[in-house]
Amino acid sequence: MIFVTGGAGFIGANFVLNWLAQSDEHVLNYDKLTYAGNLNNLVSLRDDARHLFVQGDINDTDLLQTLFAQHQPRAIVHFAAESHVDRSIHGPAAFVTTNVNGTFSLLEAARSYWQTLDVEKKAAFRFLHVSTDEVYGSLGAEDPAFTETTAYAPNSPYSASKAASDHLVRAYHHTYGLPVLTTNCSNNYGPYHFPEKLIPLIITNARQGKDLPVYGDGLQVRDWLYVTDHCTAIRTVLENGRPGETYNVGGWNEQTNISVVHTLCDLLDELQPKASGSYRDQIRHITDRPGHDRRYAIDARKIERELGWKPQETFSSGLRKTVAWYLANDAWVSNVQSGDYTKWIDLQYQSKTTT
Ligand code: NAD
Ligand code: DAU
Repeated sequence: MIFVTGGAGFIGANFVLNWLAQSDEHVLNYDKLTYAGNLNNLVSLRDDARHLFVQGDINDTDLLQTLFAQHQPRAIVHFAAESHVDRSIHGPAAFVTTNVNGTFSLLEAARSYWQTLDVEKKAAFRFLHVSTDEVYGSLGAEDPAFTETTAYAPNSPYSASKAASDHLVRAYHHTYGLPVLTTNCSNNYGPYHFPEKLIPLIITNARQGKDLPVYGDGLQVRDWLYVTDHCTAIRTVLENGRPGETYNVGGWNEQTNISVVHTLCDLLDELQPKASGSYRDQIRHITDRPGHDRRYAIDARKIERELGWKPQETFSSGLRKTVAWYLANDAWVSNVQSGDYTKWIDLQYQSKTTT
């Protein structure tokens, strides 16, 4: 079996669903169920004996060790994190607690379990750490894309905490020989994406007649990857990646934020037209994110060359699928927008002025 952390969040849930659609190998899904964790993402697995859900914190080394000893996973796939840059600006402490201390606790529990394995199982064991391209910092318009050897230069509390976790993972390989793998991926989008992030926020705000907030001039650039392609990349690295190596994962798809927002409005105008006017009329440029990284771009040639992975979805097909998913899943949206969601939206957007 494999042990997945953060498997009730956006990418983790897509990964677990995708894994069990292709394999009968069992998954122990370990998640604290923070505001971002949602068992409704996994409702189709409710009666599936191949999926075991345990609510827990990656800082709980004792519980992790008990579960490892009991279930003997052959691999750990580590998604659990605080993941939203804007939240890291308002409250960085949780990012250090989960992303740095939590990854450290998980590594410690994994190391002590790994040392109990026989020679063959020890060699086959893998700890796959899911990380981000944000650890490399920000690019100028003409700079080459990030490669695996680009120097780390994180700029937000979120990216700094992920960078710290990457360093710990690297050190556990170098010092103890733990067979680790790290993936650094660009911006994901797709089903089950929490509507605090740009794409699902724009889709849900548009449909609810609210402003579509674009930070600053909207000319910041991100590389977008459909979430299923990220899941496939992780499977590929897990099976064939070389321990101790890092792999950049990206969609070869750089877009300015304003262009993404325009495309989403156009898709909504086509799929669910308003009584009058266009969704573009709801766009508002607001105060920029402090320390906002201008551009990310991923050079994903290593994973293609060494492991044969490349993205299958185009931005056009992926975005259309994503909008269609949100249109068909109102109950999921209203469930995640209940409770603390409104408090976050007020905190983040109420004080911003329209520019
Ligand atoms: P998410 O915020 O949607 O989900 C995070 C999950 O981790 C949630 O289910 C949450 O309950 C769980 N969690 C949080 N703290 C925990 C703790 N202390 N113990 C156990 N579980 C905890 O995040 P996501 O967007 O799915 O990202 C998953 C991983 O992928 C993160 O490590 C993130 O840094 C990385 N990543 C994300 C993107 C992206 O575009 N979303 C891109 C590259 C890398
Ligand atoms: O690059 C990978 C990273 O992508 C992941 O590591 C993070 O976990 C993930 O959240 C994402 O970070 P970003 O900050 O790039 O994603 P977000 O969706 O928050 O923002 C995308 C861009 O859109 C960014 O330039 C900020 C901008 N933005 C975002 C929001 C929420 C807006 O203009 N308006 C908004 O309301």
